[in-house]
Amino acid sequence: MEEKELLEKLWKRGKDFLGVEYPIISGAMTWISDHTLVSAVSEAGGFGVLAGGNSPAEWLANEIDKIRSITDKPFGVNLIVIAPNYKKHLEVVKEKKVDFVIFAGNFPMDKDIAAVKETGAKTIAFASNEGSARRLISRGIDALILEGNEAGGHVGYVSLVVLLQQVLFKFRDRVPIFTAGGIATGAMAAHLLLAGASGIQMGTIFAVSKESNAHPEFKKRYIKAKAREAVATPQFHQALRVVPVRAIRNKGMDEFSELQIKLLEQIKKGEISQIEAQYEVEKFWVGALRRAVQEGDVERGSLMAGQSVGLVDREMSVREIIEYITQGILEELRHVKELICTD
Ligand SMILES: Cc1cc2nc3c(=O)[nH]c(=O)nc-3n(C[C@H](O)[C@H](O)[C@H](O)COP(=O)(O)O)c2cc1C
Repeated sequence: MEEKELLEKLWKRGKDFLGVEYPIISGAMTWISDHTLVSAVSEAGGFGVLAGGNSPAEWLANEIDKIRSITDKPFGVNLIVIAPNYKKHLEVVKEKKVDFVIFAGNFPMDKDIAAVKETGAKTIAFASNEGSARRLISRGIDALILEGNEAGGHVGYVSLVVLLQQVLFKFRDRVPIFTAGGIATGAMAAHLLLAGASGIQMGTIFAVSKESNAHPEFKKRYIKAKAREAVATPQFHQALRVVPVRAIRNKGMDEFSELQIKLLEQIKKGEISQIEAQYEVEKFWVGALRRAVQEGDVERGSLMAGQSVGLVDREMSVREIIEYITQGILEELRHVKELICTD
């Protein structure tokens, strides 16, 4: 079988599910995945995802309209279940009859999955272990994303390699499963498709794309960064909970570590309550991603990035990214064929 034919077979399910030419998802990135990036990815034949974040509901509704005015290709909307504006966002996607809704940040409520499906939309959610995959499928979720701890932004605790074994190999026949975290080459995408993934999701590589409205200083820092610089925020003690976020190490990150150590000392000495300390921790990063993305504050802003940042060494257009990944997949499939065919 020719590589192209093989690839068509491997990603057919993902293509059919998303209704795209390439089941390559540009994962939602708060402050980055706006109508410009989303419409560019979808127009190029990939699958763009608008980031709801905690934006005002009017902004979200407007962005959906803008995407639709640029492209009639499919796209999704990512909703953060724990965002204060989530309920309003849910109303917007239902009212706008968005075709794909991706629930992120936490387990979506059964009634929310059902309400979105009632409008005719397909639903997608993140599964972080076998139990959550089983539960989501039983509640009617249409597809899953497996996002490994290598990914950028808010991350789980488990690597993609382990998630493939816990979830992909067990549930790949039930629903389409898309894999994310640390992917930035066609070679890796090829092996994930061979393992049974229906497609891939990438974030960091699209954050640096020409169509991304991120600040030039932000992009420059990403292009320079090595994989090991994208670290998850540490938690030093149970007394102070820290939600892990993978970002490029900078002054802000070091100051956050120092703040935690100081607060833990103060809790120990009884100078501050645990609740007050927790509040200080939560407060620290408020607005930090926006400062990095829009103002180019690469020292104290939050430079959320996956370890894949070490594989991203230039600014490409989204079309070039999709072409680069697709060509890379075909090359790797050729290599695999040579490995396994003896004649
Ligand atoms: C700057 C940034 C912001 C992100 N924001 C979100 C978000 O709002 N919602 C979400 O589900 N995932 C978010 N992610 C995760 C991405 O959608 C994607 O799954 C992840 O970046 C994949 O890993 P990679 O960066 O190694 O490709 C974000 C990632 C980055 C880098």
